[in-house]
Parts: sequence; structure tokens; C-alpha cells
Amino acid sequence: MVNAFKSAVKYFKSFPDIRKDRKNSIALLGNPGAGKTHLLIAVANNLLNNGISVHYFPYREGFDEIKDNLDALEEKAQRMKDVDVLLIDDLFKRGATDFEVKTMYSIVNYRYLNHKPIMVSSEFLVDDLLEVDEALGSRIVEMTKDYLVEIVGDRRQLNHRLAN
Ligand SMILES: Nc1ncnc2c1ncn2[C@@H]1O[C@H](COP(=O)(O)OP(=O)(O)O)[C@@H](O)[C@H]1O
Ligand SMILES: [Mg+2]
Repeated sequence: MVNAFKSAVKYFKSFPDIRKDRKNSIALLGNPGAGKTHLLIAVANNLLNNGISVHYFPYREGFDEIKDNLDALEEKAQRMKDVDVLLIDDLFKRGATDFEVKTMYSIVNYRYLNHKPIMVSSEFLVDDLLEVDEALGSRIVEMTKDYLVEIVGDRRQLNHRLAN
């Protein structure tokens, strides 16, 4: 958790220097309740205050919405490709269909090729991400390598929801 916090702060501070690099992204992976979303939203708010646009995409809810209105898919995907920073919250929450992997890959790969940052939270660790889809997982790992934290350990200590 300390590492996740440090990494998030370092990421925000380094952002102006690294945003055009290949390794310009951050991933916080691991235990639910550890504060991954909390930290990434804090980074997003700071970026927004600096005039950088951030699109928040909650993976499960986002895809449920897309499936309810497939006509809007292209437009939504385009927005997720174009925005300065894309925050993918809870990647692969409740699994990943082929459609979801394919859609995510096209967005993430576009961003990779165009040096556009992503911020990712997931309960899946690196090995799990790669197991779901090697191509998508390895893109994400490559982009986030310098700011990639796996939060593992005692659930009670890590879980802010259970802390009090
Ligand atoms: N540093 C923190 N200080 C106080 N509350 C926090 C902190 N980090 C997270 N929380 C709270 O703990 C709960 C779990 O955090 P969350 O970011 O949702 O975890 P995760 O995304 O890792 O599952 C949320 O209610 C959140 O507001
Ligand atoms: Mg979360």
C-alpha cells in the first residue's frame, strides 16, 4: 500500500516528462479494498487540475452500458482512444468476454502506438492478466512497467473497507 501511494505520487510528478514515452502509464493491481481506485482517482483529479483530460472507464459498468447500446460503441471507443489519459478501473472485473478483450485491445493498442497513457486498476495480478489475454496483458505491462504495483498480503490490513 505504501508502495502504491509512492508510485502514484511519483507518477503524477513525473507525468509531464514521461507522458510521451512508451512507458507512460500506471497500474495498481491486487487486493480489493486496498485503495487502488482511490489513488488513481486522486491522480486523475490532479491531472484534471493541470488541464489534462481524463476519461474514467469503470470496466464492468462500462461494458454493460456498451452492450446495452452497441450503436454507440464506435463513438465511445473513439473517445477512449483520443482522451489524454484513460483510467480503466477494475479491469476484467467478473471476467472478460472475447468481445471485451477485443474492444479493450483495440483501444489499449491504439494508445500504445500513439504514446497515450493509461491508468489501470485490477484485482488481477500480472500473471493473471497475461493468462486472460497475452497480447492485451503484455501491452498493459509494457506501458505500466515503471509504475506497476502488485498489492498482495494480509487482506484485513490492506482492506480500508474492513479497517475500522
Ligand atoms: N488512503 C485512504 N484513506 C482513507 N480511505 C481510503 C483510502 N484509500 C481507500 N480508502 C477507502 O477505502 C475503500 C476501498 O478503497 P478502493 O479505492 O475502492 O479500493 P480498491 O479499488 O483497491 O478495491 C473506499 O471506500 C475508499 O474510499
Ligand atoms: Mg477499485
